[in-house]
Amino acid sequence: ASPLRLGIAGLGTVGIGVVKIVQRHAEMLEARTGRKVVITAVSARDRTKNRDADLSSYAWEVDPVALATREDVDVFVELMGGHEGAAKDATMAALKAGKDVVTANKALLAHHGQALAELAEGAGRVIRFEAAVAGGIPVIKALTEGLAGNAIRRVMGVMNGTCNYILTRMETAGLPYETVFEEARQLGYLEADPQLDVGGIDAGHKLSILAAIAFGTKVSFEHVVLEGIGCISIDDIRRAADMGYKIKLLGVAQMTGRGLEQRMMPCLVPAASPLGQLQGGTNMVVIEGDSVGQIVLRGAGAGEGPTASAVMGDVLDIARGTRLPTFGQPAARLADPIPAAVSAP
Ligand code: NAP
Ligand code: HSE
Repeated sequence: ASPLRLGIAGLGTVGIGVVKIVQRHAEMLEARTGRKVVITAVSARDRTKNRDADLSSYAWEVDPVALATREDVDVFVELMGGHEGAAKDATMAALKAGKDVVTANKALLAHHGQALAELAEGAGRVIRFEAAVAGGIPVIKALTEGLAGNAIRRVMGVMNGTCNYILTRMETAGLPYETVFEEARQLGYLEADPQLDVGGIDAGHKLSILAAIAFGTKVSFEHVVLEGIGCISIDDIRRAADMGYKIKLLGVAQMTGRGLEQRMMPCLVPAASPLGQLQGGTNMVVIEGDSVGQIVLRGAGAGEGPTASAVMGDVLDIARGTRLPTFGQPAARLADPIPAAVSAP
């Protein structure tokens, strides 16, 4: 079979992680798919930057759109981030040029998921985004494949590792929010715009993507009721602990008789529960299906290895010829969600 040729735009944490897996596991990837998986071209803003991988055998494109539309690229791997500009332009250009797309970009999917799904499916292409939600946890695959025979009742969980790190560190070290926030910044945990993390926006993006798949509705990030963790004090955490609870930035999406409820906000969870026990940057997603009951998925929600692992899972699916619709059912059949008013938890 012909090799599957990747063009990777974005050579930061995730992009370099993907390059390393392709280089380290070339034989294994071929054995598992029956095709070689190769990188033909890459793109980033600064060509002179020292990166932790040998990129010398790949063509370099300054412009991600040029990379996305190259003749020798079969799959455009978008790992730049941001929901406007280069990421959106290059992803759309790739689909229009007949390429499949793999991305880790939750903001892009949350803001343009429906348009991208319609474009991909209209062109007979696929856009895959396992890495966009909960990093290394294969939650998209679980919902679209393993649990596809279930009516999903509820999806909930902790989907932002940075917030969980801040909250658990406040609790275990007894440090105030401002100190731990600064610590997280020093450790490189925060997004370039920290408000995406601590404002609950990043986790809200992820929840809106899961809700679309779980309930067969168009992605509606604008209807996620959001509240960040900036208002949580050490006293709040202590009072919660006295009552046997932990405070978590918890996302809940459920279809109610009043419509689709999506909320991402600090909540009290029982300290002894799996969610209450979740420490540091780990993520947890809890899915309730009518036949399967409750499934709990737990693992690293961010970082080079876990996120690249999810990207590669999508690449290998494409190499094997798996062609699932973007959100688990054809984009044209996704319903307009009726947003339900959300009451305080
Ligand atoms: P990053 O380390 O900041 O890397 C971004 C890369 O994109 C850099 O190599 C940058 O180039 C390149 N880039 C940015 N704008 C560009 C443009 N206009 N043209 C060409 N290249 C451009 O980001 P990351 O952490 O790898 O994240 C990548 C994506 O994965 C994002 O969508 C993020 O939300 C998602 N994600 C990340 C994680 C994680 O743990 N990091 C987890 C899940 C999902 P330079 O290097 O030259 O500046
Ligand atoms: N900033 C995100 C987090 C990265 O902390 O979970 C992974 O999406």
